Amino acid sequence: MESATVGVVGAGQMGHGIAHVMLRAGHKVLLLDTTRALVETGANRIIKGLARDVEKARLTNDQHRQAIDRLTTTTAPADLAAAEFIIEAVTERFEVKSVVFQALEPHCRPETIFASNTSSISITRLAAATARPAKFVGLHFFNPVPVMKLVEVVPGLQTTPQTVEKATALAASAGKTPVHVNDFPGFVSNRVLMPMINEAAFCLMEGVADAAGIDNVMKLGMNHPMGPLELADLIGLDVCRDIMLVLYESFRDSKYRPCPLLEKMVAAGWLGQKTGRGFYAHPRK
Ligand code: 3HC
Repeated sequence: MESATVGVVGAGQMGHGIAHVMLRAGHKVLLLDTTRALVETGANRIIKGLARDVEKARLTNDQHRQAIDRLTTTTAPADLAAAEFIIEAVTERFEVKSVVFQALEPHCRPETIFASNTSSISITRLAAATARPAKFVGLHFFNPVPVMKLVEVVPGLQTTPQTVEKATALAASAGKTPVHVNDFPGFVSNRVLMPMINEAAFCLMEGVADAAGIDNVMKLGMNHPMGPLELADLIGLDVCRDIMLVLYESFRDSKYRPCPLLEKMVAAGWLGQKTGRGFYAHPRK
């Protein structure tokens, strides 16, 4: 596809990764967050990631410079008016995401496609909270975004095939493999992954094995690149707990109840790599 202008909302772990791969693919990126500090932290991480791409010969020096020139940072929703796609990657709460889309709506063109990187919230429900449900789609990227190949493309009930087609082309242009998944809680990825992580937390709580033992079983026995508890530390224990709650409340099935140990660790602020402590200690570098 031709170079597009992509608004990325949220400069955190997922947002800065999405912005990075869009820039690397030749698109213009308008990166929005609520404060200058947040947006600049995200931009610095993107610039570091692009420099790594040069080291690894994924970009030339010229492409690197051009990619940085295509990045604009802002804290004003009105500055996203030129975007053909908006990809939202803010806090995983319906109320927060829907307010973001409502703030953008008056500034965006009617043809602009709105995409959410939600990991489990209903696309149909998010779409219905905007004035453009036909042009709303889920684009679910994976952490670390520059490395992971998958994007789940999730149409809501009112999403048109044209919207799905354009969103699929955007994901593919960024070097990702889009997989179409229907709008059900947790889609496929988190419906399968999160119960595994949650069950690993139950195994730890019940003393079946220690954290390293549980992770080694899955790494050495199932060839997973990371054990489920290490992975939970990468994703964030709060994110894992929140996704389990979405599954639990959506299906009303006790098999999705969050493990009490996971709940306790979240309550303690032990959220994984981002706070320096999760199932493992992550000393600050
Ligand atoms: N952020 C950015 N890049 C990272 C990274 C991170 N946290 N960790 C590793 N990388 C990069 C490295 O820089 C390296 O890139 P390079 O080509 O520039 O050298 C590349 O990944 C490979 O890294 P390493 O050789 O150091 O390490 P590994 O071979 O062990 O791979 C891994 C690291 C890619 C993270 C691998 O362990 C893995 O695939 N783990 C599983 C990750 C996973 O399952 N992610 C999905 C999470 S679920 C999700 O995101 C959905 C959400 O809704 C919850």
